[in-house]
Amino acid sequence: MHDGTSSRSRGRNTRREFLKSAAAVAATGLSAALPLGCGGPKAKPNSRATAPTLSQVNGPRSLRAHAAAHGMLVGCAVNPDRLDGDADYARTVADQCSILVPENAMKWAALRLTAQQFDFRKADDVVVFALSHDQKVRGHNLCWHNALPGWFASTVTRGNAAQFLTQHIQTVAGRYAGKMHSWDVVNEAVDVKSGRPDGLRDSPWLELIGPGYLELAFRAARQADPSALLTYNDYGIELDTQEQIDKRGQVMMLVRRLKARGVPIDAVGVQSHLTAGDAPGAGLVHFVRELREMGLQVFITEMDVNDRKLPDSVPERDTAVAKTYRDYLTMMLAEPNVNTVLTWGITDRYTWLNGLAHASRPDGKPERPLPFDYDYSPTPAFFAERDAIDSRRTGAQPGGDPYAPFKPGQGSPRSQYE
Ligand code: XIL
Repeated sequence: MHDGTSSRSRGRNTRREFLKSAAAVAATGLSAALPLGCGGPKAKPNSRATAPTLSQVNGPRSLRAHAAAHGMLVGCAVNPDRLDGDADYARTVADQCSILVPENAMKWAALRLTAQQFDFRKADDVVVFALSHDQKVRGHNLCWHNALPGWFASTVTRGNAAQFLTQHIQTVAGRYAGKMHSWDVVNEAVDVKSGRPDGLRDSPWLELIGPGYLELAFRAARQADPSALLTYNDYGIELDTQEQIDKRGQVMMLVRRLKARGVPIDAVGVQSHLTAGDAPGAGLVHFVRELREMGLQVFITEMDVNDRKLPDSVPERDTAVAKTYRDYLTMMLAEPNVNTVLTWGITDRYTWLNGLAHASRPDGKPERPLPFDYDYSPTPAFFAERDAIDSRRTGAQPGGDPYAPFKPGQGSPRSQYE
């Protein structure tokens, strides 16, 4: 294991001291305990004459302040290298978010340099940043078919896979035990196209361990960190297209199987990678309500809105993207068991969509899928997200505890999946 003794020029604690310092931050609640070099408000010049000023979107007007007033959490996926190297990025994340998730830094490929070594430096950076800014952290993720390290295929076999997975979860979830809001324990395990009656994806974990790998992962996670909310996370379950109806149905069946076996699962993450113009509808609302009847929360875990089908005009794209944010979040946040929203990034500058062959714009222009644009000005999507947060009428009251135990409501909808 790396001993992580290098120190940074800005005087951050050494990684060796991480657990001690993070615990101290958590215990004292001193947000200034760890200097992070992202000082007070500093507006970037913006060429758009009508661009909102920073003071219109930070402090009491930030997403996190509005979310707190409604007993909600709001945040984004972050990259520790940007937190370290881009002061505007760090300031925006600090201003706007009450919950962070590492975009890549807690994936197997990031943590497992070799079969024997873990490198927690980047992951620790995210946790330390969050704790020092009074932010929660989601872990992403403990078990996924992607982002497996190069050595995995030649090292992990049917004979040792269950042990590898268990030890990974013990080590990673154990390291951050007591500090995490939630963990994506299993990511994207359902794939209708794999053609199995149980809907499970043909993945290395399925092949090496069998369908029991999900149960194994959730039980190991609960044991390693009894206080984190354990989440099953998936995409392509938002719309009422036949493909997504089928996948959503398989996710529901999976969750039911897990619950029936007493597997510890607390939440379902709906990734919410949408395309401008998408109109999620009744199917997703039924899904959320059925999960609520089962005592599960729903987190919006990775929202962004792709504008690749729209023409070049920025105002046109921004309007359509914002409408999709508004409609989707207003619908979802009307449900009491949806109280946490994360976007997959905070600024268009670093969106993963620009690197995706199948999702980037045919004209090669950068996408505008997030609440802040390339220059850290808030986009119409910012205001749509904030308005949707303000539209919340149900669930926790202002100042309430977003972690209050779930209480099943009345008016149980009949299952769509029976
Ligand atoms: C993506 C990251 O954003 C990229 O930087 C990386 O190259 C690939 O993974 N669903 C997930 C996330 O659960 O982990 C993915 O993140 C996006 C889709």
